[in-house]
Amino acid sequence: MADVSSASPVFASDNAAPAHPNVLEALHLANEGHAASYGADPVTARAADALRDTFDSPDAEVLFAFTGTAANIISLASAVQPWHEILCSDVAHVLLDEAGGPVRLSGAQLTRLPSDDGLIAAGELDRRAVRRGAVHHSQPHIVTITQSTENGRVWTAPTIAEFVDHAHDLDLLVHVDGSRIANAVAALDVSPAEAIGDADIVTVGGTKNGILFGDAVLVRRPEHFGGIHFVQKQIGHLASKHRFVAAQFLALLDDGLWLRTAAHANAMARRLSDGMAALGLHLASPTDANEVFVDLDPDVHRGLSQSYVVHQPDPPHPAVRLVCSWSTTDSDVDGVLSALQGLL
Ligand SMILES: Cc1ncc(COP(=O)(O)O)c(C=O)c1O
Repeated sequence: MADVSSASPVFASDNAAPAHPNVLEALHLANEGHAASYGADPVTARAADALRDTFDSPDAEVLFAFTGTAANIISLASAVQPWHEILCSDVAHVLLDEAGGPVRLSGAQLTRLPSDDGLIAAGELDRRAVRRGAVHHSQPHIVTITQSTENGRVWTAPTIAEFVDHAHDLDLLVHVDGSRIANAVAALDVSPAEAIGDADIVTVGGTKNGILFGDAVLVRRPEHFGGIHFVQKQIGHLASKHRFVAAQFLALLDDGLWLRTAAHANAMARRLSDGMAALGLHLASPTDANEVFVDLDPDVHRGLSQSYVVHQPDPPHPAVRLVCSWSTTDSDVDGVLSALQGLL
């Protein structure tokens, strides 16, 4: 299935980065004696508290999953009935990159809304809400947005607040796919709670930001997500040795590490996009967080691919994606810039 290439994966994805040493150390510390399984252990309780504190959500329930895809599916599938409609952007990971999982596991329809690089205008929700009530149509029930978006954009605090409030006015629930929420918080320099607005449920990314494996679900209004623990169990994401997933989050949230790693990734992306612009390349979208999208002509793309694994998200559109992580270095960035200079 997967291509094995000798090209460097350093910019292929933030998933290609190693785990942060503090995370590995936390795993070592958690590996002490026996502990209750399936999340009934003290490490999990502390990690859940840390997430509640971080997002200023004292009444939230917290669940952990092995992947971001599962965290999204658990969030959405527990919100809806098969006659419901889940709204998302036209570039949403849940729509394009989860192999239909949210539809299969919820039975609900997924409807794409037009967006600007994943940023959806609040008015798009009105058009769907008018279809409410007629028995012939799937009923809009929840909208999912991504912070930061699949195209590397960040919802500003006022914009996400307005969007979420408007969704609530229309009686829609809101899920935030925060697979890269740390990058958004670091970029915006606001509190984590401001970066998600009044969202009802949030996927809080870990894997892309220094964890070995694990994303969390912050359920801020549990009354709308009845059965969420059963969905998690049904799809095999209730870890038996739960303390090891949770310990990684504890390490990441300790003393603001998650925002320092994300700020570093963002700074590397900024260095990369500034360097590309200086080479005369056209950026396909603004670099708001840790992902850089640049238009490359096919020869340059082919040449670059000899040395670097890069992803072209929407072929034949010429945009190519390069992702920076907590472990990307100045010299990694300078290396790819000089490779590009040689190809131009
Ligand atoms: C925006 C977004 N959401 C969710 C995911 C899913 O994460 P995972 O690959 O861990 O399932 C990704 C992964 O690339 C992503 O980019």
